[in-house]
Amino acid sequence: MVTAFVEGWDFVQTLGEGAYGEVKLAVNTETQEAVAVKIIDLERTPGAMDNVRKEICVHKLLNHEHIIKFYGCRKEGSIQYLFLEYASGGELFDRIEPDVGMSLPDASKYFKQLIGGVEYLHSRGVTHRDLKPENVLLDDFDNLKISDFGLATVFRHQGRQRMMEKCCGTVPYLAPEVLVRKPYHAQPADIWSCAIILVALLAGELPWDEPSYACQEYCDWKEGKITLNPWKKIDNLALSLIRKILVENASKRYTIPDIQKHQWFKKNFNKQKGAFSRFPSNSPSQSPTCTAPFKRFCSRQDLSPPGAGNGKISCSQPEARLLAPPGDSLAERVEDGANTISFSQPLHPDQMFLGSQFVGTPGSSQTPLQRLVRRLTRFFVKTNKDDTVLHLSKAFDRLNYLWKKNNRSLLTMSTTDRRNMPLVFKASLLEMGENLMVDFRLSKGDGLEFKRQFMKIKAEMSSVVCKAAVTWPMAPSQAR
Ligand code: ADE
Repeated sequence: MVTAFVEGWDFVQTLGEGAYGEVKLAVNTETQEAVAVKIIDLERTPGAMDNVRKEICVHKLLNHEHIIKFYGCRKEGSIQYLFLEYASGGELFDRIEPDVGMSLPDASKYFKQLIGGVEYLHSRGVTHRDLKPENVLLDDFDNLKISDFGLATVFRHQGRQRMMEKCCGTVPYLAPEVLVRKPYHAQPADIWSCAIILVALLAGELPWDEPSYACQEYCDWKEGKITLNPWKKIDNLALSLIRKILVENASKRYTIPDIQKHQWFKKNFNKQKGAFSRFPSNSPSQSPTCTAPFKRFCSRQDLSPPGAGNGKISCSQPEARLLAPPGDSLAERVEDGANTISFSQPLHPDQMFLGSQFVGTPGSSQTPLQRLVRRLTRFFVKTNKDDTVLHLSKAFDRLNYLWKKNNRSLLTMSTTDRRNMPLVFKASLLEMGENLMVDFRLSKGDGLEFKRQFMKIKAEMSSVVCKAAVTWPMAPSQAR
């Protein structure tokens, strides 16, 4: 639903939700420029005011091609709005196929861009402290953008460095020294998280739940046991780089210049004809038609809301993310398994009010196409709303979910995952021209499990899921 906020801007879609509030997509009715708006209810979370102030201070300092741009902010009562560059390509997470990863050229490209972004952050004296694929977004051109500076802080000011003390971030991505509650250096801790991201890109799984002696997988790694997963999915050259980064002693860990000199980092995977790939040419990772159902992967262990105080592991992460606008005035082609769905975005932007303190010109280069989000935990059905709800409810019963109908267009499901952790997600029914789309969003839990559940639901719903191409009429305001 489109809601009013600022004159000339439409809030068209929720991009993500989290403990702090939501991120919404706002589109300029005239120019079609798009911005992401992070909406924080300062009264909802204790300490939110100070945290947001800090996030703004830090994010304002940054201007780099691989960092989400901060455009400005505005406060209305207890609601704080942050205007951010909109990354229409969604989360890096969504490019990782669970248990597989992605092609080497893609992993290499994203890792190089990630290191480029982190190098810039560190050069500005800023540490992110919650690097993970969910906090790494992609633009239209598939360029990586580091986002969410909710836990970021300054570790170097006027040439003077300070040690970090707060234990914050997302456990599987944390460096071991962050967990032990002693002062630690900021830069090696971020670099460790980058290597965990690299493992996720190359293997589609995370190496351990936490880097401590309590975790067998971490102990195995420390003993050099690399015959098991995820290591056996990773080629030797990449593994040799990872082995230099995932070193427990932070002072012996590879620095960014070390990483940049490593052979795997320098290698150009795209240029080589018939470049080595772990995947056969018909494998899902190399086939755009097959990656569609695997646009999200995650294993989160966020324990508490952002800035919940020293010594707490924080969650800076929206718990459910990227309910994408369905398409665009230019026909979007979504490869959905073997079926191509092509559609235009039926936006009906209402007039709204938005007055803000922009510090830059948001999205001046954006075209309508840039508003697309390639989110694929959704399908189209042949049935009407009521029948779809009936089919969904039967599928949910068969899958033993607890579920409730919030309203005619929204259902909430809850179940537990393979680790017995709670998994909560939502299904929204969106009428698009003559078609109905069912869009699933994770609210709480492990994104990898969420993707697996989505695939099960889609299979259960196969009798009503559209297999043929679906085309939407253009909304009048888009037909230019
Ligand atoms: N989700 C959270 N922040 C976002 C952004 N800036 N662009 C797109 N999706 C987002």
